[in-house]
Amino acid sequence: MNIKSVQTFPDNFYWGAATASYQVEGWNENTDWAKAGKQGRVPLAGRLSDHYNRYESDFDLVKKLGHNAHRFSIEWSRVEPRAGEFDEKEIVHYKKVLKALRKRKIEPFVTLWHFTLPLWFSETGGFERTDAPAIFARYCAKVVDALKDDCHFFSTINEPNVFGSNGWLRGSWPPFKRFAVTDLVSVTNSGRTFESQAKKGIMPLFLYLRVMKNLARAHNLAYDQIKLVAPGVDVSVVKHVIYFHANWNPWNMFKAALANYAWTSIFMNRTYRKCDSVGLNYYFHKKFGDTATYEKTDMDWDIYPEGIYGSLRLLSKYKKPLFVTEAGLADKADVHRANYIERQIMAVENAIKDGMDVRGHMYWSLIDNYEWALGIEKCFGLVAINYETLERTIRPSAWHYKKLIERYSSKIS
Ligand code: BGC
Repeated sequence: MNIKSVQTFPDNFYWGAATASYQVEGWNENTDWAKAGKQGRVPLAGRLSDHYNRYESDFDLVKKLGHNAHRFSIEWSRVEPRAGEFDEKEIVHYKKVLKALRKRKIEPFVTLWHFTLPLWFSETGGFERTDAPAIFARYCAKVVDALKDDCHFFSTINEPNVFGSNGWLRGSWPPFKRFAVTDLVSVTNSGRTFESQAKKGIMPLFLYLRVMKNLARAHNLAYDQIKLVAPGVDVSVVKHVIYFHANWNPWNMFKAALANYAWTSIFMNRTYRKCDSVGLNYYFHKKFGDTATYEKTDMDWDIYPEGIYGSLRLLSKYKKPLFVTEAGLADKADVHRANYIERQIMAVENAIKDGMDVRGHMYWSLIDNYEWALGIEKCFGLVAINYETLERTIRPSAWHYKKLIERYSSKIS
């Protein structure tokens, strides 16, 4: 007799991959990042994979790979190119993007802002401005009002802590302000080569604290204003979690708890009440007192997909539905990716078995993209891009992900 096992992943679980506007669209010139690129402070982006014009055929790939969801972001600088002036033709563009997903029965997950700022905003202080939350909320409400008929899931902010710490503590990203003793607390390596050019001092620490507060306020205000125009949509923040853990040593455990509090809890405590769900981006962990050695990704990050379990656990205490909105690795040769994704999905399965309310898994990234201060050399894509010819090549691991999706969507034992 065939007994259907208790199915871990719910029937309506969302499987997919993610991208972000500046990293794939091409020619987002009206931004702080493009300006920094022209100044030689970060790599130039330019045309990239031209996803802005090729989204239809890219979504054919999404379908072919068996995904039923896709996360992408709206480029703020296109939609609001000057303060308070909205460009209707760009809004129409994003409506078409949503329709292209709907036509293929792919559920869209829209991020309203993924790191890049319009020049008019960044050049007048960006998130240091006291009126930044109001400016941000106005933009969010405008976009959601325009897109609400074709999209249910909206995230306001992508990775507030990464944005704040790279911009104001490490100084590797715009606006390149560096807190003088940041090396003591630095955990990631994105853009290390650019840090030396940053303006160093004590002031960035205070600005960082102000920016982090403003980001939380911006999300909370955006939530309220979105609900006025579109009460039915799901609004979330996308939180980058570094999973800090420890060996048996109580001092190490204390350090891990403190680091989790500083990196994850402070921002979440300020915003979770204004979240219908929470997005998790997981890439790395740090274990205090660890003696193990790990294989490394092309970013030199430990291969430790199992850390997604602890990251979900950290977020589950807010008692909101959770979506894995990003998780993945840079692996140009595609030697680790298939196994990595499989282990990651098993860890998500364990999280669900242990009662965590996880409702989606989106791999980062659908296609190779501009990896911020590291340019186009680091390849996270399920699909490889040839930047000369714009040819797309599906990597073998993408087929493995498809098989896993099929296996987990119809689990019979
Ligand atoms: C960001 C992406 C980035 C990825 C890999 C996340 O922090 O949201 O934009 O490409 O990590 O570093």
